[in-house]
Amino acid sequence: MCGIIGVTGEQDACALLLAGLELLEYRGYDSAGISATDPARDAETTTLWRVRAAEHAGSIERLRALVADAPQPVGSAIAHTRWATHGPPTVANAHPHLDCTRRLAVVHNGIIENHRELAAGLDERGHERTSATDTEVLVHLVEEQVATGAGLADAVARCLPALRGDFAVALIYAGEPDVIVVARRTSPLIVGVTDTAGIVCSDVSAALATTRNLFALDDDQVAEIRPGTVVVRDLAGRRVEPAPMTVSWSVQRALKGGYADFMSKEMHEQPRAVGDTLLGRVHADGSTEIEELVIGDDDLRKVRRVLFAACGTSYHASLVGRQAVERWARVVADAEVASEMRYREPVFDEETLVVAVSQSGETVDSLHAMREARRRGARVVALTNVVDSVMAREADGVLYTRAGPEIGVASTKSHLAQLAMVEAFALHLGRLGARVAGDELARAAQSLLSLPAAVERALARFDQYEAVGHRFADREDFYFLGRRAGLPVALEGALKLKELAYVRAEAYPAGEMKHGPISLIEPGAVVVVVATRSPMWEKVIANVEEMRARGAVLVAVADEGDEETARMVDAVLEVPHVTEICSPVVNVVPLQCLAYTIARARGNDVDRPRNLAKVVTVE
Ligand code: G6P
Repeated sequence: MCGIIGVTGEQDACALLLAGLELLEYRGYDSAGISATDPARDAETTTLWRVRAAEHAGSIERLRALVADAPQPVGSAIAHTRWATHGPPTVANAHPHLDCTRRLAVVHNGIIENHRELAAGLDERGHERTSATDTEVLVHLVEEQVATGAGLADAVARCLPALRGDFAVALIYAGEPDVIVVARRTSPLIVGVTDTAGIVCSDVSAALATTRNLFALDDDQVAEIRPGTVVVRDLAGRRVEPAPMTVSWSVQRALKGGYADFMSKEMHEQPRAVGDTLLGRVHADGSTEIEELVIGDDDLRKVRRVLFAACGTSYHASLVGRQAVERWARVVADAEVASEMRYREPVFDEETLVVAVSQSGETVDSLHAMREARRRGARVVALTNVVDSVMAREADGVLYTRAGPEIGVASTKSHLAQLAMVEAFALHLGRLGARVAGDELARAAQSLLSLPAAVERALARFDQYEAVGHRFADREDFYFLGRRAGLPVALEGALKLKELAYVRAEAYPAGEMKHGPISLIEPGAVVVVVATRSPMWEKVIANVEEMRARGAVLVAVADEGDEETARMVDAVLEVPHVTEICSPVVNVVPLQCLAYTIARARGNDVDRPRNLAKVVTVE
């Protein structure tokens, strides 16, 4: 995780960096810092300027105050917002890190896995390290190369082969005051130029205020950015042309638009996210068109197995994808947590299609799983919300959701868009494979197309969901149960409650409770059950009875007007009825609201929950 931004050739460098850091904060907000060269001073002797702060979500505000109090140099400057991996979130561990001469600075996203071994060598050679981070080793290694007379770009290139792990780094050097040097392996990094300036950044959003002339770096490339120019080389020193990036998002900064926070705004944008994602792709007669998929219809007809791989909320969307592919395409399907799939030595062949689901298109576990699948012979598709993200660029084909930028750390609208997209994709496969009758696929398509209105209707019940949330806001033990299409919903409901409200919440297949977890149920435990009408309803209700018999308080996600279900529980979260495979798109909405309400009632920051980051670029 962590966000990096750097600029050169900008008069108001600090203001730009602070604005950029705010946009990158979703990547981590434990601490932040800025370092800059000062071209007005003697390049042979001067040291770097630096400010840092470690005040959780207030770090950038603190930096703003520090910057206002200090004369600001206007050479090259780099900045960082941190999600701590090595070393607690203190000022000493905040980036940028300096070398012993204080003439070199580095910011880093990722993990240098062999940092201990490298640090031992540096200590022996007399370097003084001042932080507990893995990052700091790099700036001392570069220091050694610069001491031999190498320029900054060469020095960095010489150090990269010694590093193990995933990283994106940006460095400045007082001896070359208008230069920024960057390099990456797996972790994202983009560079951009105008006629008079240069920018480096972890993602497009923070670069757009400066330029749309942006390029993506490939692994093990080193770029030297000066005002107006960028030169990219591979590790052998050969000049390479960087790939231009497609920029589809607008410069406009996401605003809360009258909502109390981004999360509630984004929850209310869900009908549009689902509608936009389905637009032009699914038609009422069951026909489908998915242009960016690239993989042709004949190749898709040959697919014998679909494996979804993802992390967190995206994994829950994958579980729904599995059910939709099985139902509508009658193709073997599975879903797996990406960090496990990668190391399992999975068996794939050219008839396997791996769909890596990732809102950000950057999650390192999902990216590595995708690479591993490809190495083992599978075709890979990235299902992502970010055009030209690392995963989108590396995959054989892409399925883009169209949720627009999501700021809240806990996924809401991007999740619903993922659900819509995995289902549209399943329908597409189903139509090509023709193993399921055309009229059934047409009904599935119509059901999908009814989702934006159904989500809208669910959101109109926000007050009802909020009232239930307030009723249980002080409880400490929650269980979320569901079966078949209800299970991914239960898993997502529990995850949302954990990440936002910091409350223990377990999710289980309802039928599995009696095989152990039921022993945890004591009077007063809150059991939230997905009990909308489907062929599984009676079984789910039988499981509900088992919980009630042991004193649990029951909350049901149930169809509007379903009095029979309502009578059996203590509180009901009503949703409009849609067909079972499509139901997760609607049923997850009240559970998002439940977690939101309980989190706010407990005084938590719903947009920036503790210990989390939106984009996880470390293993
Ligand atoms: C982090 C976020 C989660 C997200 C997961 C996967 O853990 O906090 O909200 O679901 O990463 O992210 P991705 O971008 O791959 O969907």
